[in-house]
Amino acid sequence: MFSNPNLVREGSRLYARSLVPGFKVHGERLLEKNGAEWREWNPNQSKLGAAVMRGLKTGIPVGASVLYLGAANGTTPSFVSDLVGADGAVFCVEISARAMRDLIRVCEKRGNMLPILGDARKSETYAAELPSHVDFVFEDVADPAQARILIENARFLRKGGVAMIAVKARCVSSVKEPETVYKTVEAELSRTFEIVEKMRLEPYEQDHEFLVLRKR
Ligand SMILES: C[S@@+](CC[C@H](N)C(=O)[O-])C[C@H]1O[C@@H](n2cnc3c(N)ncnc32)[C@H](O)[C@@H]1O
Repeated sequence: MFSNPNLVREGSRLYARSLVPGFKVHGERLLEKNGAEWREWNPNQSKLGAAVMRGLKTGIPVGASVLYLGAANGTTPSFVSDLVGADGAVFCVEISARAMRDLIRVCEKRGNMLPILGDARKSETYAAELPSHVDFVFEDVADPAQARILIENARFLRKGGVAMIAVKARCVSSVKEPETVYKTVEAELSRTFEIVEKMRLEPYEQDHEFLVLRKR
């Protein structure tokens, strides 16, 4: 597991130091330790949390800027917000107006999170709300064109910046074997990125491959 002062693992449990003590995002357990409040990060409800538990080596450091595609109600984005801390930023793109209502509630409490109601397939529609470049792009969008969406949003990633994606085999193809899907997705992404880490997310998620990529 990568090292970040705002993240600890104790056995099978993962905790992030809360940027907003006392505020829960999804009913998570809170823990007081050494004068700080830590939020339990459930890897069964977060693909990034699952990747951390599976030994993710590439860290999201304090102060990083992150473009998060498929932010939903803000659960995993809130943990990314804890990791990057007050000097970092998490730009949260979400297509669903229903999810956006919850996401806004989270962003109002967390000064480093910005909600963007938008379609990740149309990056030009939210380009004006982003800085010229970010350090990370994270994608968790259920769309058969997942790879194409990440490549399109790589325009916001600085050269050498890192992209992370949870490939959902059953969403890309319901008939092909997951291994076949992963190979096709990896080949598509390889034109824009170098693959630096890859892992399966079992037992936390079935038929998901987590890829860490560096922009060429
Ligand atoms: C699996 S959920 C994300 C969960 C979230 N990443 C977490 O761990 O807390 C996928 C989200 O992607 C959103 N989504 C689907 N297509 C999208 C698109 N084209 N642009 C932006 N968001 C999209 C869905 O509305 C849904 O909220």
